[in-house]
Amino acid sequence: MKKLMEQMAEELSAAFEKAGYDPSYGRVTVSNRPDLCEFQCNGAMAGAKAYKKAPFMIADDVVANLGESRVFSMAEVVKPGFINLKVKEEFLADYLEEMSGDEKLSVAEAETPKTIIIDYGGPNVAKPLHVGHLRSAIIGESVKRIGRYVGHKVIGDVHLGDWGLQMGLIITELKHRSPELVYFDENYTGEYPSEAPFTISELEEIYPCASGRSKTDEEYRNEALEATHLLQQGNRGYMALWNHIMQVSVTDLKRNYENLNVSFDLWKKESDAQPYIPDMVAKMKEQGFAYEDQGALVVDVKEESDTKEIPPCMLLKSDGASLYTTTDLATIVERVKLFDPDEILYVVDKRQELHFIQVFRCARKTGLVKDETKLSFLGFGTMNGKDGKPFKTRDGGVMRLENLIADINEEMYRKIVENRSVKDKDADETAKIVGLSAIKYGDLSNQATKDYIFDVDRFTSFEGNTGPYILYTIVRIKSILNRYMEEGGDVDAGRILSAVNESEKNLMLQLTGFAATVESAFEEKAPHKICAYIYEVSNAFNSFYHETKILSEENQAQKESFIRLLVLTRRVLETSIDLLGFSAPERM
Ligand code: ARG
Repeated sequence: MKKLMEQMAEELSAAFEKAGYDPSYGRVTVSNRPDLCEFQCNGAMAGAKAYKKAPFMIADDVVANLGESRVFSMAEVVKPGFINLKVKEEFLADYLEEMSGDEKLSVAEAETPKTIIIDYGGPNVAKPLHVGHLRSAIIGESVKRIGRYVGHKVIGDVHLGDWGLQMGLIITELKHRSPELVYFDENYTGEYPSEAPFTISELEEIYPCASGRSKTDEEYRNEALEATHLLQQGNRGYMALWNHIMQVSVTDLKRNYENLNVSFDLWKKESDAQPYIPDMVAKMKEQGFAYEDQGALVVDVKEESDTKEIPPCMLLKSDGASLYTTTDLATIVERVKLFDPDEILYVVDKRQELHFIQVFRCARKTGLVKDETKLSFLGFGTMNGKDGKPFKTRDGGVMRLENLIADINEEMYRKIVENRSVKDKDADETAKIVGLSAIKYGDLSNQATKDYIFDVDRFTSFEGNTGPYILYTIVRIKSILNRYMEEGGDVDAGRILSAVNESEKNLMLQLTGFAATVESAFEEKAPHKICAYIYEVSNAFNSFYHETKILSEENQAQKESFIRLLVLTRRVLETSIDLLGFSAPERM
């Protein structure tokens, strides 16, 4: 279905043309003087130069040629040459009726669906998830959902970090603690035990301990480097340990992501790309892209237009070991082979930008991807505490994600019980649902690239631009609809009629903006646009609610119209929060 803006522009363009001007001047925008009009057209201003004519003369011509309008109740020229516009109430009501009947709420689906791989989450095996991993999961999940909604084939890949030094560190620490374990017996040829020799909480204690020791103890560090190398060479005992680490860790990660309402289609990992490395490196050498520099193998990626120094991309270290870059390049080879994607999008901390510039340039230069394949980087800013520094626990340690979520849920529980509208047995579950909205909305309502301050008090508030406020609005609508149904009302009866007051018209106008919002949120990979939009819709709804008697309306057709508008508002809000990755409870 055609968007409201498009329908308005069509009428105006026709009028421009009839008056002898280029129809492309008929573009319509939301008014920046809401006190005077709802929409405006600035085409006459833009055309003044081309036609060497005062803009208001052009605008006058256009309005004179608009004739009897299907769409506008007002088209008024104001000096120096703007056309101020208002939409006809009946037209708006019809538009919303049509939108209600559209499964996608009038979002236009992609004409040629693309295959897009989103690389997000990016946790490292055996290290507890900390707040640094939160943003990637939340933003990536939302972009994935938005992409699917607009009709693309989107594949989410968690891309586990499973192949680096952390594995060697854990193996080394285990060896120091329990050298008798069969995994360290070089002469052992039998089957290894199926149970891991550690639990997740032991594992989470082992890693920081090993990592701490490696920083001061050089011999220990070298042992860990050697263990990493042996693992990467396929040492049997170490591979068996690696399998245990993976199993224990992935089970725990899955549980954590589930609590965040985040899910991945692929649980691939760095090590999956290893088999592609030898061929890839050989080809890069053969084609003359890779050369040796101080023992290491590198590819130049600097370009003439660079304003800052872009160092060469390192493929192999002097000892032949592969690096983060190597793995990411080989992962591209694998993804191209398995999925032939149109785009690969990485949702990663923006401090890794240089790494991705190098990887993307190297992949293009050496022909790992087709020219038309997009490689994009959505780099996000840091989540800071109230002191403006990276978020920490009260005693200054790295905040574990689980603890952060527990803190939020506790605060939410307190607020919900204080409100006492929910029976105690529901309060716990409700606190979790609302808590998640607080975390996700708090994050997503900021432009991804910016740093933001994680403020528990603000994020959990039921008022202001917060997740709980949006949910509160949805719950309010649900409760009105439930009461209506309890009184025997049918939510599908009747149709949306012309607005009865300003606040209703404003709500109706807001609802028409859904499609454009979702489409541009996808184009710009900008979930914050959806947050800003639903905040406006919620405000518009709440004003309407305060100014209008809904259930006590005596005219049945009018009451049905209000109810249908409520149903549509709820759908717009619930679809939007689903795109953001959270949901609303029945009551709060
Ligand atoms: N595991 C990495 C980290 O914790 C993030 C991985 C991001 N994705 C990628 N393809 N490099 O920093």
